Amino acid sequence: MCYAIPGKVEKIEKNMVIVDYFGEKRKALNELSQISVGDYIYAQGGFVVSKISALEAESILAVWKETFFQLQEVDLRLSRLNLGDRNADKSLLEILDRASQSKELSRAELLYLLELKDQAKLELFFKTANFLRQKYHKNSCCVHGIIEISNYCIRGCLYCGISNHNKELQRYRMTKDEILQAAQEAVQVYGFKSLVLQSGEDPGYSIDELADIIKEIKNKFPTLIFISFGEIGIDGLEKLYQAGARGLLMRFESSNPKIYEDVHLGQSLESRLMHLKEAYKIGYLIITGGLIGIPGQSKEDILNDIFLAKELHAEMFSFGPFIPHPHTPFAAIMPAQHPPVRASAQVEEVVKVLAIARIIDHTQAKILVTTALETLSREAAKSGLLAGANSLMLNVTPLAYRPFYAIYPNRAHQSEDINVQIESTVSLLRSLGRAPTDLEVIL
Ligand code: 5AD
Repeated sequence: MCYAIPGKVEKIEKNMVIVDYFGEKRKALNELSQISVGDYIYAQGGFVVSKISALEAESILAVWKETFFQLQEVDLRLSRLNLGDRNADKSLLEILDRASQSKELSRAELLYLLELKDQAKLELFFKTANFLRQKYHKNSCCVHGIIEISNYCIRGCLYCGISNHNKELQRYRMTKDEILQAAQEAVQVYGFKSLVLQSGEDPGYSIDELADIIKEIKNKFPTLIFISFGEIGIDGLEKLYQAGARGLLMRFESSNPKIYEDVHLGQSLESRLMHLKEAYKIGYLIITGGLIGIPGQSKEDILNDIFLAKELHAEMFSFGPFIPHPHTPFAAIMPAQHPPVRASAQVEEVVKVLAIARIIDHTQAKILVTTALETLSREAAKSGLLAGANSLMLNVTPLAYRPFYAIYPNRAHQSEDINVQIESTVSLLRSLGRAPTDLEVIL
């Protein structure tokens, strides 16, 4: 988005470039021809997205220069870790101290953290995750735009508001022109450098049509494209990669095969994992994760979920809360809301998962604050970003369609103009000292 800074190419080694951001060096893969040392580029998600003129870059950098260092300072201040509190629990301090030094924690220790309830202990745990985020990723934060191109879905996932169980939902499918227009606006008007195209599993688009749309977006509006169309088969993944998609957003939802198969009628975890593994082999960046709070899920399951995301080479972890939808089979069997679960307690459960993910994969992963988490509380994005997360997604689906992509009720930003989302995101990120360079830092 507009919250993105150009970098200067310092060095080129085959298809890898080293990019300088005010003295910080970061790595990116380059697939564009005609990039030379000294050029200014925009990069996102590890890829060079576009080249920009020196004149334009220098004027943007002049605006950023002072801000960049101020942001770094704010971030450093907010991520300072002090484990010297003598009143704190000794065994907790000992675990967090090892975590802060990037030492591996045992399963029992991770479960202990996942089960914490005491607010003072949780605060130290979240601060440790934030410290690790800062140490390995500096103040970088990435912001993707998501376009939900269709809410048709042939699947019957028991929890999902756009599954085929929901007969009350008005369905839509954007035309190619509508998708191109939404992409054009996202990239050219709002400055997004990375877009996720998402839909239910909708046979209404053929793979060739999707490939054609991706090619055209890549040609006209240079961006990093993630696809999220469900299980489209290996052939489909290959074709869309050839068309220019470079990322796959596909959650495995639950690593427990029994839970998976109970809630995804007629689907197998094996098939989902096969897609994720093959996509990685093809070269896709992987965004994956699961739902927190599916009925029957244990803390052990959740820990396994985080480990599975890492095993699948998640370049970004996406874990969000399950939110019951009234027009799904799960609404009926969800006594969870009687007595109602406090939103703050649900937020806490998910933020713990983000913090564990940061401890397990501190050096590599980006960790997303999901819209579902933001739906639970306005403060949730901030809480997540201060507990290890460093990534956000904004919704750039045309407003006329957005309410119909109702995977759960009352989604955050459902009727919020993109300008408003950008404004509040930029002000949140600035208040936390985060800057828009999301490439791997060379320490
Ligand atoms: N609550 C929260 N997230 C949901 N999703 C689907 N239904 C719900 C719900 N009721 C999530 C799934 C899917 C993503 C697109 O939306 O995890 O991967």
